[in-house]
Amino acid sequence: MEPSTQKLIHTFGALADLGQEIAGRGDFSEMVRTSMHLLLGTLALRRGAVAECVDEGAIRCVSVWGVGDQIFTDFSISEAEKQEFLTRNVSDFLVSTSASATAFVSRYRERLLEEGIELVLPMIVRDEVTGVVLLGRKASGEEVSPDDFETIRAMVRHIGVGIHTHRLLEQVAQRAEENRRLYEELRTIYSATVRAFAAAIDTKDKYTHGHSERVGRYSEIIARELGWSEAEVEGIQIAGYLHDVGKLVVDRDIINAPYNINAKESSELNRHPAAGYEILAPINHPYADIPLMAKYHHERLDGRGYPDGLVDEQIPIGAKIVSLADSFDAMTTDRPYRRRRSFEDVVRDLRENSGKQFDPKVVAAFARALLKEVNGQIKERRITKMLGKDYLQGENVPTLLSDLITDLTGAGSEVRSYK
Ligand SMILES: [Fe+2]
Repeated sequence: MEPSTQKLIHTFGALADLGQEIAGRGDFSEMVRTSMHLLLGTLALRRGAVAECVDEGAIRCVSVWGVGDQIFTDFSISEAEKQEFLTRNVSDFLVSTSASATAFVSRYRERLLEEGIELVLPMIVRDEVTGVVLLGRKASGEEVSPDDFETIRAMVRHIGVGIHTHRLLEQVAQRAEENRRLYEELRTIYSATVRAFAAAIDTKDKYTHGHSERVGRYSEIIARELGWSEAEVEGIQIAGYLHDVGKLVVDRDIINAPYNINAKESSELNRHPAAGYEILAPINHPYADIPLMAKYHHERLDGRGYPDGLVDEQIPIGAKIVSLADSFDAMTTDRPYRRRRSFEDVVRDLRENSGKQFDPKVVAAFARALLKEVNGQIKERRITKMLGKDYLQGENVPTLLSDLITDLTGAGSEVRSYK
């Protein structure tokens, strides 16, 4: 085989290796270092260095081989010098012999020769100088031939594209991270605003302190038990916080005397789910259906609810969850006109009203979540805490819950399904 053919094959092999190295997803500086090594090895050059152009004409060292890593200290490159690199012949990049060396080469000739650098090549990507490669003499002492120049240019182009692509990917990753952080911040702000809003709703009703917050939490617990995704769970929690937002447009006196209102006042109070929908619908919530969950939280499976008298399958599952959470909190908290009901009584109510007012699947999920807490299957006792430490004492809670779950889900269920 002719020596020139052999050399050509060798060069092709080196280019292929270089391509693979650059396309790899490994460590960046290792990639540049290996590429540099391949370039030097192919041409049997003694030393070399790679630097990239950064902001305002500065040059940053990326990799050195056989050269001190301080070589680029105090180096800079002007726009005019970059432009010159785009138009000159490669022979003008020779440091020691060129009579018409580029301005950049002339400016740093002394320093470059001190470090044994013989050739300064620009890395060019899409007609833009993105960095420079400095190369030393051949180990054999021979001059760099025109063929060598071509090989060097091809390899430098490869390295330039590799560095450029890597930096672009870095920028994309950085922007994605920034976006993620911004989104996270927005979510936190949204959630805090919603909770503040929920607290504001509750202050309108002097007897239901913390009600909206608890409804949000109960709803979240039920949705989680039903296997909803994290985003859906977050959505239902928000819906729980905001379910009574429509009360903001109802007269305070009516809200505070629900046991002593006439028919007209009662219909005024019953406007609150539809009013809530009107308030929430124009807002672009990050979770779907929040306005509908507020609108239908007083609907019943048997069609006797309001505002639209929907039946079972017409009611969104989210609204069914909020409805149960709302009723459960109402039954288990004191009001001025009545004490809260015993747990046994509450379970009886849930059993009787499953299939009429409440969806049995939703009631069963809530009972399962509470049973897991009571049995110690779940360490965090969130429901128990909301109920207060004395509430479940003295009651045979596990049996009550197990029986309820069996009745709602087991064979021979006595629960009448509406339909
Ligand atoms: Fe309500």
